[in-house]
Parts: sequence; C-alpha cells; structure tokens
Amino acid sequence: MIFHTLVGLAVVSLAGVHAYNNAGLPLRSAAESVISLQIQGQRGPVAPNERVRSCVNGVCPVPWGNMTDTENVENEAAGSAPASSATPAIRPTELNNLYSYYGVDMQIGTPPQPVTVQLDTGSSDFWVISNKNPFCAKTSEDIQRGWPNCSTNVFDYTKSTTWNFTRKYFHLSYGDDTYIIGRWGTDVVSMGDLRLDQVRVALGDNTNSSQGVFGIGYPQEEATLDKYMNIPVLLKQTGLTQAVAYSLYLNDIDATAGQILFGGVDHDKYTGTLYTLPIVKTDDGDPRMVVQLETVTYNDGKNASQISGEGINVLLDSGTTLTMLPPSIVTPLYSAIGAVEIPDAPLYGVSCPSRDSGKMVQFNFNGAVINVPLAELVLDLGEETGKQFTMPNGDKACGVGIVPSDSDLVLGDTFLRSAYVVYDLENDQISLANTNFNSTTTSIEAITPSGVPGTVLAPSLQHR
Ligand SMILES: *[C@@H]1O[C@H](CO)[C@@H](O)[C@H](O)[C@H]1NC(C)=O
Ligand SMILES: *[C@@H]1O[C@H](CO)[C@@H](O)[C@H](O)[C@H]1NC(C)=O
Ligand SMILES: *[C@@H]1O[C@H](CO)[C@@H](O)[C@H](O)[C@H]1NC(C)=O
Ligand SMILES: *[C@@H]1O[C@H](CO)[C@@H](O)[C@H](O)[C@H]1NC(C)=O
Ligand SMILES: *[C@@H]1O[C@H](CO)[C@@H](O)[C@H](O)[C@H]1NC(C)=O
Ligand SMILES: *[C@@H]1O[C@H](CO)[C@@H](O)[C@H](O)[C@H]1NC(C)=O
Repeated sequence: MIFHTLVGLAVVSLAGVHAYNNAGLPLRSAAESVISLQIQGQRGPVAPNERVRSCVNGVCPVPWGNMTDTENVENEAAGSAPASSATPAIRPTELNNLYSYYGVDMQIGTPPQPVTVQLDTGSSDFWVISNKNPFCAKTSEDIQRGWPNCSTNVFDYTKSTTWNFTRKYFHLSYGDDTYIIGRWGTDVVSMGDLRLDQVRVALGDNTNSSQGVFGIGYPQEEATLDKYMNIPVLLKQTGLTQAVAYSLYLNDIDATAGQILFGGVDHDKYTGTLYTLPIVKTDDGDPRMVVQLETVTYNDGKNASQISGEGINVLLDSGTTLTMLPPSIVTPLYSAIGAVEIPDAPLYGVSCPSRDSGKMVQFNFNGAVINVPLAELVLDLGEETGKQFTMPNGDKACGVGIVPSDSDLVLGDTFLRSAYVVYDLENDQISLANTNFNSTTTSIEAITPSGVPGTVLAPSLQHR
C-alpha cells in the first residue's frame, strides 16, 4: 500500500549503505539462503487494477511501436522460468531511511542502471520510472507537487541489452492518488551482489509518483491477470532463500538505515519473544499482510489506560508513512496524549516527547504486545513542512503519526519502526517482537518452509 498522506511532504534522499558483509556476519546456523537488505521509509496500491489497454484519467498507454507480435516477446505460457546467476547466499540489504519512506538500492539492466525504489509490503509488483515519463519535474514547483526528479532513479530500457517487453500493460493507482501506467518487461535485476535474471519489471511510462516501488507482497495480489513469480518467490525458486519469507527492521526514526533480510530472521534485532500470529484472510480471499489487533493502550510512563478493546484487522505496511486507525481509537488516543489541532499543520500536534519520558502506545495482538514509544510515533513537522509549529503552551509541536481512517486500517512506518516483523508467506503467518533499536550485532538463522525458527505462538492463541 502506498500512502503519501502528508501534504507537501519533502522526500529527503539518503544514499544506501551496505551495513554488513558476508565476512562480518556471525551466523548462528546454516544461515545460507538469507539475504539482508537495508531499506529507506513510505506507501502501496489501494486496489491493484487489471492491466489496461484504454486511457485512464485522460492518460493513454504508450503504443508498442513497430514491434511485431512475435518479436521480443517473453513466452508467458512457459512461465517465467527464471535463470539465476546466483552468487552465494546471505546478503544483508540496506534500507535507506528517506523519512517518508524506505528505499532499496537496485540495479536494472545491462549495463546496470541504479535506481532507488520504495520497499512496500502492501503491494506485490516491482516497477520503475521511465526516463521518458512526462511527469519528470522541470521546476521546483513540480518537485513540491511530488513529481519525480528524473535526473536519478529512472530507467532507460533502450540502454539495456537484456530488456524484453512482455507486451502487457500495467496500471496501478495508490492511496495517495498517484498512479502509474506503463508496460511490462523483464530484465536482470540486482540488489547488492545478488543477481536475478528475467525479473518482471513494469516500466512507468506515465506516472506522477515520485519514485518506483518494490512490492514484496503475495503474488496473488499482483496487478496482472496472470500471476508471475515476483522477487521474493524468485529468490526461493533460484535457491537463494529456502522460503518465501523476510524480516523487516526499520529501526529508530533517526537511524539512517533499516534492513530487510530475505529468507532469514536476525535474533539480535528484537527484544523479548518473537510471537507468531496467523495472517487474516481479507474479504476477497486474497492473502495480504493483515493481522488482528485486539487492544490499544496508552501508558503515560506511570499508568496505563486502555483506549480500545475492539478487535480490528490491520495491514502491516512498510509502504505507508503513517498509522491509520478508526476514529473510535484515534479520538480517545489524541485526548489521552494531549494532541491538538494546529492551524496549517498537516497532523495533530503534541509537545515533542523526550525519549526517556516512558510514554508509549501499546498494541496488543493476541497477547503479543508491541510498545511504541511516543518519541517514535511522532514526526518532526519542521522537517516535513519547512515550518516550525508550536503548541498552545508554547512548546515545540511534533506531529502525531496516527491518523483517523474509516476504511484503510494500516500500521505504517510510525508503528513498524518499533516492531521487528517476520513475514512468512509460505505459512501465512506474521511474527512480531519489540525492536532492539540501533542493534549493531547479528545472529541470523534461515527461515525454512516449515516456519520461522525461535518463534512462539502468540499467548492468547496457545491454548485454543
Ligand atoms: C515506426 O517505424 C517508422 C519507420 O521506421 C518510424 O518512422 C516510426 O517513428 C516508428 N514508430 C514508432 C512508434 O516507433
Ligand atoms: C534534480 O536533481 C538534480 C541533482 O540533485 C538537481 O541538480 C536538479 O536541480 C533537480 N531538478 C529539479 C527540477 O529540482
Ligand atoms: C496524480 O494524478 C492523479 C490523477 O490525475 C491526481 O489525483 C493526483 O493528485 C496526482 N498526484 C500528483 C502528486 O501529482
Ligand atoms: C530476452 O529474451 C531473449 C529471447 O527470448 C532471451 O534469450 C533472454 O534471456 C531474455 N532476457 C531477459 C533478461 O529476460
Ligand atoms: C539510535 O541512533 C540514532 C542515530 O544515531 C539516535 O538519534 C537515536 O537516539 C538512537 N535511538 C535509541 C533508541 O537509542
Ligand atoms: C496513577 O496511579 C497511581 C497509583 O495507582 C495513582 O495514585 C495516580 O493517581 C494515578 N495517576 C493518574 C494520572 O491516573
């Protein structure tokens, strides 16, 4: 899911740094087939659309040009049987904290073209912006509007000798109203020193999204009629991981990088127990990263008061900057934490909390409790708007990273930074623990098709 919910949100670019190397990884067991990427932080499609052949909102797909029907066409019937020039496993991959989203540095094509794309657990397709996109920003006003700066992070397929079109169109629109219309192709893709051949990539011919997206959700949620092996599946298919599973560590809001670990779990990145929950099937029957949240409690550092007792289904979405909960939770939570509306600010404000205040919002998932420090839940309004806001009492105001929503219930980055989350797409389970912030050590184990090592069923589910 991709949500740019903050008006005028500035996307700050930080370079991705590979924080680990093979030699430096203290491995607990046969941690082969574990790939770790570092990420940056933001958004996903509201509802994946079918491919379109006609125009959308007055925007029409780019014609295929003079290619014949048989030329340069991938044989889809044969299935995208991937070839892989697999280098050995265990590859930490870094996520760059770009403040409103988390970005992964990828290379596409031959010779490789670098692109930083947003990591999104709420969608399932990988797409990049074409260098010919008409929305490439020409002025600083265009940048303010959120249009892409195409001097970087764009892909020119004409410069890749390995690019093939599949002759299928691609169309997605996202929660923040940005959209992409383009064409499907395949090419060589690498992340760090990991390389996959014949990866499905959608070329964003026409998009007003500020960056491409690396969707790592279920193939069932792909925006195509014929489902294909997306990157998490290809990693297993080519033997680089043992299971279609990954662990997400966004880390502290002030940390420049988080990490995604494909095929593995890092026991040094969380505290306490890693509890497992079943993924809740959504109404349409397709699996998404949805779990049941039972209660929300506010702890002011001394006393805890329950805000909500209703069970709701929430999406654990790295592609959404904020957390979106029903007004029945958000309204009492705002009054408990003293949040007030501030003129012209994009979010409700609170006095900027100190890290040691002990103030936290506690999210209970069948007895697995994630404590989100208030200091991790708020955003620096100055950093996002370029303006300073003050509370009625004169304190500096910080923006509350939880907003009311009637329809989309999402635990986004403002929640996810405080949780270590293991997504097991083979067993339809999610495991959660509290983040060990700024951890500098690793203890990695491979995830196997039978499950995530070192996890325990969530307390309330144990005796059912
Ligand atoms: C198709 O080929 C003709 C002749 O080579 C060329 O003039 C035209 O621009 C091409 N059209 C596209 C869409 O590439
Ligand atoms: C795009 O980024 C480049 C390099 O950072 C910069 O020089 C250029 O001014 C930017 N373009 C716009 C329209 O802001
Ligand atoms: C992108 O286009 C859609 C549809 O026209 C529009 O609703 C949305 O506001 C646009 N977003 C940006 C950032 O230009
Ligand atoms: C492109 O298609 C050709 C011919 O089918 C095939 O040999 C090649 O491996 C494909 N390249 C990629 C990167 O998929
Ligand atoms: C983690 O590191 C960042 C950046 O160095 C620092 O600002 C932050 O306070 C640290 N967080 C914790 C919980 O120690
Ligand atoms: C917090 O709990 C203590 C001990 O039960 C009680 O004395 C105090 O009044 C409570 N404070 C608030 C603000 O509820």
